[in-house]
Amino acid sequence: MKSICVIGSLNIDLVMEAPKLPIIGETIMGHDFMTTQGGKGANQAVAAARLGSHVEMIGCIGDDLFGQQLLSNLIENHVDVSGIRTISGVSSGIATITIVDGNNCIIVAPGANGYVTPALIMAHENTMKNSALAILQLEIPLESIIKAIEIAKKHGVKVLLNPAPAKYLPDELLSQIDILTPNETECESLTGIKIVTIDDAKAAVGFLMKKGIPQVLITLGKHGVVYNNGEEIKHKLPPAIDVVDTTAAGDSFTAAIAVKLVAGHSIDEAVAFANVVATLTVSKKGAQKSLPTIDEVNCFVCEIDKHTLH
Ligand code: RIB
Repeated sequence: MKSICVIGSLNIDLVMEAPKLPIIGETIMGHDFMTTQGGKGANQAVAAARLGSHVEMIGCIGDDLFGQQLLSNLIENHVDVSGIRTISGVSSGIATITIVDGNNCIIVAPGANGYVTPALIMAHENTMKNSALAILQLEIPLESIIKAIEIAKKHGVKVLLNPAPAKYLPDELLSQIDILTPNETECESLTGIKIVTIDDAKAAVGFLMKKGIPQVLITLGKHGVVYNNGEEIKHKLPPAIDVVDTTAAGDSFTAAIAVKLVAGHSIDEAVAFANVVATLTVSKKGAQKSLPTIDEVNCFVCEIDKHTLH
């Protein structure tokens, strides 16, 4: 089985729930503090591994306790960590996350993630070469993302970009992406189209396809996903569920799409699967803590089928 190579960030998430976001100069009381393993790259690596893929990750951690926790968690989840480098004298990536009514606001201090250099990516060219798909996000330096895309293209490896956090990207870069998974905010940064309606999302998919991206999937939270399937631009709703915490929903959706496409499924099948994976993710607290295993996904699908049949 060919593997998925994730090149990206690892963060420790410092998470707190609050009744609202404070304004500048204001102190408010929060509750339910927790620390958990996160980072968009590591979340996607763990998600894909829990869904049954062989995953290799390239990234950097600091030489602190947080770095050790991040590494152990990847190993426990059967992610190949030979591409993870420890950077001396630097802190691991940290994300402070505030949850208000299940929705999150995140600030990331990249720390060691800033040391994922083009040279580090080049040192792992063989890992990338032997993968079926390279997954990237935007929490590592842009020049390293450009290098990773260059190496992937050289070896005919497909590239999936989850363009998060939101950033404008030049057309030359976008045209080299095979699969793109922005949310509404990220999509607006890339296209200038403000997504208010499903038709806006459909227009944005068309816009991004014209930039040369063959497969675009715009995630819309509880409103599902808008994507192209070779024949039309479709809208698919996720299963309904009580949302506890949206953290890592986009990461698990991205990983699930990767897992299914690498296994040879159609984009329609991949979207149906990824919607379930993201739904299960938002039903629990935390980033990597909330990512479902393939057994949990299958169980959930069985329950839905039972209810549909009766
Ligand atoms: O996508 C969720 C992730 O974004 C969090 O785990 C946090 O670390 C930030 O990278």
